[in-house]
Amino acid sequence: MSHENFRLALFASGNGTNAQAIYKARQDGRLGPISPQVLICDKDCPALRWGQDLGLASYLVKPRDYPDRKSHEQAILDLLQDHTIDLIALAGYMRLLTPLLVGAYEGRILNIHPALLPEFPGTEAIERAYEARVPFSGVTVHLVDEGMDSGPILAQKKVDLVPGQSLDDFAAAIHRVEHQLYPATLASYAQKLAQA
Ligand code: GAR
Repeated sequence: MSHENFRLALFASGNGTNAQAIYKARQDGRLGPISPQVLICDKDCPALRWGQDLGLASYLVKPRDYPDRKSHEQAILDLLQDHTIDLIALAGYMRLLTPLLVGAYEGRILNIHPALLPEFPGTEAIERAYEARVPFSGVTVHLVDEGMDSGPILAQKKVDLVPGQSLDDFAAAIHRVEHQLYPATLASYAQKLAQA
């Protein structure tokens, strides 16, 4: 791997706002040695259309086109190798990874989660924190292992839940922090890898 340039794959299943924030950070010179090369989606989703419109190499790799999880991930791994990818950012990619991908990219897969892990892992973390009337929640960026939103934490940032705040406003505040914290954490993690 080049220590000057980390070739990044973005993985998404949804709106793709985090993938867009990472891409924009690169354009603005805020992504350190990382350059996004590829977008991988497991379903037809707004993120995929964004990548295609941009002209980013964008792949739809649907689990149901493969007999099992392992062969689905092997197809993804083949794409990553074709594009000589060094680093992966899960950006709202709503599938657990298997040992195949986690093993091939150990310490090189990051994820963002819209809560202060280990609180509220899994889906709908913003809604669940809101309904629990917590005084604050936040955002976590962590390394990925085979568990659900587990793996060593790299960065966290708190977001207050203001009394009387609507769920929409709370979600928007969380997403604003995500869009800042994820690119910044990716950049600093890549700097650390480059110096290792
Ligand atoms: C983000 O809020 C991300 O933190 C969350 O999915 C959303 C994707 O939004 N991820 C998880 O909940 C992972 N467990 P986006 O597609 O607009 O980036």
